[in-house]
Amino acid sequence: MRILVTGGAGFIASNFIRHMLSAYPGYHIVNIDSLTYAGNLENLREIESSDRYSFVKGDICNSDLLRGIAFDAIIHFAAESHVDRSILDAQPFLQTNIMGTYTLLEEARQRGCVFLHVSTDEVYGSTEEGFFHEDSPLRPNSPYAASKASSDLLVRAFGETHGVKAMITRCSNNYGPFQFPEKLIPLVILNGLSDKPVPVYGDGMNVRDWIHVVDHCRAVDAVFHRGRAGEVYNIGARNERTNIDLVKMILKEVAEVRGVDEGRLLDLITFVHDRKGHDRRYAIDPARLEGDTGWNPRVDFREGIKNTIEWYRANEAWWQRILSGEYREYYRTQYGERLRA
Ligand code: NAD
Ligand code: TYD
Repeated sequence: MRILVTGGAGFIASNFIRHMLSAYPGYHIVNIDSLTYAGNLENLREIESSDRYSFVKGDICNSDLLRGIAFDAIIHFAAESHVDRSILDAQPFLQTNIMGTYTLLEEARQRGCVFLHVSTDEVYGSTEEGFFHEDSPLRPNSPYAASKASSDLLVRAFGETHGVKAMITRCSNNYGPFQFPEKLIPLVILNGLSDKPVPVYGDGMNVRDWIHVVDHCRAVDAVFHRGRAGEVYNIGARNERTNIDLVKMILKEVAEVRGVDEGRLLDLITFVHDRKGHDRRYAIDPARLEGDTGWNPRVDFREGIKNTIEWYRANEAWWQRILSGEYREYYRTQYGERLRA
């Protein structure tokens, strides 16, 4: 089986490719990624020489390019993914998240292949109480969430109208190795390691429901193999935290591993202006996923955070190359020569 994974140089899909190659010796993964600022081929160093992996540099909006690639199924991660960027400029979000998904759906329709669409709990908007269920109304508040909700609706429509065998997953906030340091958890870790201010938006009482990226990858695998076509699956680990509690917990762990005074790192916390339209709370009910596929999260949150801190400490070269911009050269050095040959 040849699976087209989109956005494989990003945070979650690079973890997913590693997971699939080690779990399924018979699979070949084709990674298509246009290498935006968030795409980093260094995330895939461990597996890039595998003969069961190939990379295509390209845009998911390019239907001619897609037509020339051989595959039997699509697992679609590629997206513009950062809410703050979507507030500054929504255009690339609409282009990639909506038009890109549409282009891939047309390809799936023509080939009659399975399409797994990786979406987000943010399409449901914010909830003060209770949990998001798969049939909760879609009430996206940020341009990012609106673009993902739009793509979800297109996936549904292509299933209903054209019979595309499509499934949608909606996961809560991820953390773990290889996350780009603009997102909250890696930002707090890196700033805590280098004594820089840690910005907390608003009053810090916004709630997010956190899951380790490896548990998310296992859930996408479970839906791909055991999910029902036409279905939506929420993915979450029942792990809600206020931002301020989370930030304090991470800074205390960082202080411990650095052997520095906890109070000194907690003093880095700086309350800043709130994000526009900042969703107050996300909370996922993953019961359908658990019932249909037998999936359960495995990573304990405190252990997961400790391991993630250790990972960033052990991989300083990886994030220093992101901070300096050097990571963008990796494609040319690894693939530029080979392509010219
Ligand atoms: P990311 O920003 O780390 O990676 C996105 C990848 O997509 C990058 O490698 C980028 O180069 C690629 N890409 C962007 N536009 C492209 C285009 N037009 N053509 C080809 N490739 C393109 O994102 P992530 O955090 O790994 O998220 C992956 C998916 O999971 C997204 O669909 C996101 O909505 C969803 N998701 C993320 C989270 C989270 O907490 N990060 C939670 C739930 C769902
Ligand atoms: P983020 O990691 O951007 O994920 P999302 O917006 O998709 O949930 O942010 C997680 C939470 O942390 C969100 O409530 C915004 C908040 N936040 C901060 O308080 N400070 C920061 O510097 C960032 C990046 C986020």
